[in-house]
Amino acid sequence: MSKAIRKFLLSMIAPALLLVSGGVSASGASVDVHVDIDLGNQAALQRGARTFVNYCVSCHSAKYMRYSRMAEDIGLNEELVEANMLFTGRKVTDHMLVAFDPEDAKRWLGQAPPDLTLVARSRGPDWIYAYLTSFHRDADRPWGVNNPILPGTTMPAVLSGLQGEQEMDADGHLHSVTEGELSEAEFNDLVKDLVSFLVYIGEPAKLVRGSLGVKVILFLMVFTFLAYLLKREYWKDVH
Ligand code: HEC
Repeated sequence: MSKAIRKFLLSMIAPALLLVSGGVSASGASVDVHVDIDLGNQAALQRGARTFVNYCVSCHSAKYMRYSRMAEDIGLNEELVEANMLFTGRKVTDHMLVAFDPEDAKRWLGQAPPDLTLVARSRGPDWIYAYLTSFHRDADRPWGVNNPILPGTTMPAVLSGLQGEQEMDADGHLHSVTEGELSEAEFNDLVKDLVSFLVYIGEPAKLVRGSLGVKVILFLMVFTFLAYLLKREYWKDVH
């Protein structure tokens, strides 16, 4: 009896533990940076959301994410989101869509910027971090910049005002040639928060799943205790 219960409990606990420890899996073989993403850090997600809305959503959509859902998940006030993060005419219940026509984007940029809802899953957080910090001058490119992580990228260096401009030397090392509004450490933090936000929109259920996992474990602990009491009750007369 107790063996069966133990077996049953194990079979329930194991997947729950997997769920909880699943966390963020990093990838990106040729990328030698690593960012630690903490989806429990609401302030970081909020800063990331602000950067995303200010610098990215003009070109990239996150079409599976609604502003209202984001607001609720990361602890932002819906009225504030409506007042500060939305383009005119958008509602807080709308999905995060681009401001301009994809056809225009194609004409200006050569290709329509991809939707970013799932990019953290396809590329991995390390790759995105490396990409966003590695734009450098290249006079041969239409926007005057290139990127070793995505060579020949058609995306302009939209964060260069914050980061400053970089050049790549013959060995492939990047070094800054002009100052940006932010120090290097501040800029790296900003990008890290932005990447955290992209990880979040890639799988908003992760936030929920984390807290659900804890609840499941608590439930199982209570359940185990009750099962133990029951076992004692059953075996009392046998001994
Ligand atoms: C002016 C328009 C524009 C803006 C603004 C912009 N991007 Fe891009 N982005 C592009 C285009 C175009 C591509 C496609 C590049 C390519 O494949 O060569 C791209 C590609 C990307 C990719 C690579 C996607 C993939 O898997 O290949 C990521 C990640 C990305 N952008 C993130 C961002 C983030 C984060 C911001 C805000 C800080 C941003 N972009 C702002 C135009 C833009």
